[in-house]
Amino acid sequence: MRIFAISDLHVDNPQNREWVRQLSRTDYREDLVIVAGDISDDVIRIQEVLRQLLERFARVAYVPGNHEMWIRKDCFSDSLQKFDRLLQLCQRMGIWTSPLLVGEQDAYPVWVVPLFSWYIKPEEGEGSLFLPKPGEDPTLRMWSDHYYVKWPFEARNGAAAHYFLKLNESAIEKEYRFPVISFSHFLPRQELIFPENFDPEEARKRDRYPTFNFSRVAGCRQLDRQIRLMGAKIHIYGHQHRNRDRIIQGVRYISYCLGYPGERENHHIHPAVQTPLLIWDTRTGEADSVFSQNQQ
Ligand SMILES: [Fe+2]
Repeated sequence: MRIFAISDLHVDNPQNREWVRQLSRTDYREDLVIVAGDISDDVIRIQEVLRQLLERFARVAYVPGNHEMWIRKDCFSDSLQKFDRLLQLCQRMGIWTSPLLVGEQDAYPVWVVPLFSWYIKPEEGEGSLFLPKPGEDPTLRMWSDHYYVKWPFEARNGAAAHYFLKLNESAIEKEYRFPVISFSHFLPRQELIFPENFDPEEARKRDRYPTFNFSRVAGCRQLDRQIRLMGAKIHIYGHQHRNRDRIIQGVRYISYCLGYPGERENHHIHPAVQTPLLIWDTRTGEADSVFSQNQQ
């Protein structure tokens, strides 16, 4: 079994729907695909994409992203009710949202471990990935979660992030005798926001949203603690719509997203994203990096 990864399919965009539809129906029959959140906010579309992936891959492992938590046209009382319904939907469809051992009979078996998560804003307490940005608008007026995400509790003190981190506890406490590939939608470390060859001047010139500070809503540090408690070898994440493949203190962090067509055209995302990224083969082990680091 091979393990592939992709995030941020955003199939509300027709080109992205076509991207999923065009994935081979024969190449991945024995493989697993990790989907690290942000398929859509529309439950019908989420279900349709999960079904399409099940028609192509032997296994699908998935965690919802922030777009899945939007309450717009769906009739949910709040985002947590929608989250629970999505997990029920996954269970009915045979989509994995809990740890899964693959390739036990092979040379390089591996655990695939989904981790639920949310971000901690700087004013919400410890664990935010926040870094100040000159000229930013701290009110996040242009951040859609601000309008569409509705928690049934006070969002203060990072309550949403802590709620999801707690759901991961049974997965964290498990004993893993084979390597672990974990995945989340949100970022576990501040360094991952930037490429290794980060040039602040160049980044400023290319910045299409100078008042938006992504680090306010990027993720949380507690997630990295969980990744390391499990001794994960590789962690897959999404959310930022950037490609990254980087080893930090012994963990390989990979972000491989489809994102929006405009982001592929202007190379914020690697334009060669034709298929999900190969991460691991249970017969031969870990796959090498296939894309360059030099993107902002
Ligand atoms: Fe996204």
